[in-house]
Amino acid sequence: MSNFKRYLVTAALPYANGPVHIGHLAGCYLPADIYVRYQRAQKRDIKFIGGSDEHGVPITIRAMKEGVSPQQIVDKYHALIKESFDQMGISFDIYSRTSNKIHHETAAAFFKKLYDDGLFEEKETEQYYDEKTNTFLADRYITGTCPVCGNPNAYGDQCEKCGSSLSPEQLINPRSTLSDAVPVKRKTKHWYFPLQNYEEWLKGWLLEGHTEWKNNVYGQCKSWLDSGLQSRAMTRDSSWGVKVPLPDTEGKVLYVWFDAPIGYISATKELTEQWADYWCKEDTKLVHFIGKDNIVFHCIIFPAMLKAHGGFVLPDNVPANEFLNIEGDKVSTSRNWAVWVHEYIKDFPGCEDVLRYVLCSNAPETKDNDFTWKDFQDRNNSELVSIFGNFVNRAFVLMHKLCGGKVPALHADVLDESGKNLLAEFAITKTKVEEHLDNFKFRDALFEVIDLSRKGNKYMQEQEPWIVAKTLAENPDNQKLIDNCLHICLQLTANLAIMINPFLPNTAKKMLHLMKVVEKMLEWENAGKTKLLSVGYSLRAPELLFRKIENEEIDAQIAKLKAGLVKPEAGSLKPGNTGGEPQTSDIKPQIVYDDFAKLDLRVGTIVAAEKVPKADKLLKLQVDLGFETRTIVSGIAEHFKPEDITGKQVVVVANLAPRKMRGIESNGMILMAEDKAGKLHFINSVDAIDNGSSVS
Ligand code: MF3
Ligand code: ZN
Repeated sequence: MSNFKRYLVTAALPYANGPVHIGHLAGCYLPADIYVRYQRAQKRDIKFIGGSDEHGVPITIRAMKEGVSPQQIVDKYHALIKESFDQMGISFDIYSRTSNKIHHETAAAFFKKLYDDGLFEEKETEQYYDEKTNTFLADRYITGTCPVCGNPNAYGDQCEKCGSSLSPEQLINPRSTLSDAVPVKRKTKHWYFPLQNYEEWLKGWLLEGHTEWKNNVYGQCKSWLDSGLQSRAMTRDSSWGVKVPLPDTEGKVLYVWFDAPIGYISATKELTEQWADYWCKEDTKLVHFIGKDNIVFHCIIFPAMLKAHGGFVLPDNVPANEFLNIEGDKVSTSRNWAVWVHEYIKDFPGCEDVLRYVLCSNAPETKDNDFTWKDFQDRNNSELVSIFGNFVNRAFVLMHKLCGGKVPALHADVLDESGKNLLAEFAITKTKVEEHLDNFKFRDALFEVIDLSRKGNKYMQEQEPWIVAKTLAENPDNQKLIDNCLHICLQLTANLAIMINPFLPNTAKKMLHLMKVVEKMLEWENAGKTKLLSVGYSLRAPELLFRKIENEEIDAQIAKLKAGLVKPEAGSLKPGNTGGEPQTSDIKPQIVYDDFAKLDLRVGTIVAAEKVPKADKLLKLQVDLGFETRTIVSGIAEHFKPEDITGKQVVVVANLAPRKMRGIESNGMILMAEDKAGKLHFINSVDAIDNGSSVS
């Protein structure tokens, strides 16, 4: 399909500051693994590179919080993550780590080359400094209020609520995460990589040269490039990381996003002496699998670094996935809203392929998607068990019952249309699966494989060999019909094993065992063939490939998820600028920006108000929203006289479902502030604004 001689596939190096969750798997490790397994089955020369990203601020923060050294943190999580990947069958050729010596040397040499070539700008700037802990605060060490969405816990580099990328200067009320001190500015020197110098080149290489990249990836890159690139500091003040390889740079390390992607190169060096073939020869196809939060680093910054350095291949594709939400809510590691891979493996032993199946068939390939335990159960029970597993099982049961436990012959003289058609489907499906996998469409590819087993079921159902068996006494020749049906179903089973192998490798192995064939059969060139199992060959007794997942198991998982939810630390959500004591510290559970965005808040003027008969608390209001006047029933009659509030402006929840109160339909709700004494107040804007203006 291409003139590439070898493949180099990388999957984002996860930060070794916590375990991996299923969003990580769905986002990049699983698609990378499927791709690699498929290419290996195609006998392509391929290396699959992974490892832990062991530098960066989140790790030092975690270490500080747990009162241990960063090294202890990364040792612990590197081992845990590596084990999770192993158990999930993520088949890296190497799973390395960026704290290795070879990585420090490789990253430092890379930096030194750019430095020697005069490609960095050296700049002294003022940066935030924490005087309590005597440390310069890297972006992540500073929190404050996001200027975009008002999230009070945004970081100095990014707001995790609204996704805006920020600089520490933009934060409102910045605080040090180390000591909670208000940071001060101090001078420090750093080396900046002038990305703007690569802008034109990037536009040509990426925007013109890689129009085939996924829309979500291409679109993000285009908007970065359209809005113009700037110099980025490639060093940081920290004691944890790759030391800056220049004199007089105590306390300075390489920026984690400078060193981490070089980790792909170091790991390849560690893996093979031929590493330079993979990294430097133009006929290598380099593919980076990542999640969408890594796009700019892999599509813009790292390629610009590689280009600046010279001598390296550039990524041929970066098939980034979007995010996987859990039960309708964004994954949050700090709130523990996640399904952790190592826990899944404990709770569902032997069901690794089920998770691979669900995450692939529901992968967030083009947009964010939702994982729910109910959907997990449904896909297992009604697809893996009822379709794929059921087909294979029936083929084996009937072959033992009706064909003496051996692969029956195919009798051309009685082969009917539907048999011929199904045999032809093997190769058709193979081609479709190939096309999808070559284009990183893993969901579609998997669907085709399952669909082939669905066709097998349908065929078996039509042929009804168990009914035909009852006619044998009168018509012994009908055995041929039975033979044909099972011959085809067993050849189909062999094909299914080959085609499911990249997705569900454990299942493919079980199928090999049942068919008593060697692993070599799984080579992709065998897919589509109709004579994989020899006539007369005796096969093993059936064993189920998948088990049903019960309601109780699902309920337990949902309960576990909810019980594990961590409420935000008390006080951490205090509004920053109320001046004085907040009214109550009982802040409601944290929401994400999307929750807030569901509210449609509008400005309206109360144009009429009257008491609701026989209801002490209620006033019936007419509120002009600009585009319409609404009836709103409000429980404020004990606080205000109707004549005192007409003409006042209020904020209205304009999309609240209508509700009847004392027979009057209320269409919305007005917002008021309540003081310590329980008295209500209008929060007035100084000047009147247009009714219907939205509040956000
Ligand atoms: N550790 C980063 C993350 O989890 C990914 C690093 S990918 C690499 O977002 F290319 F830098 F290694
Ligand atoms: Zn924000």
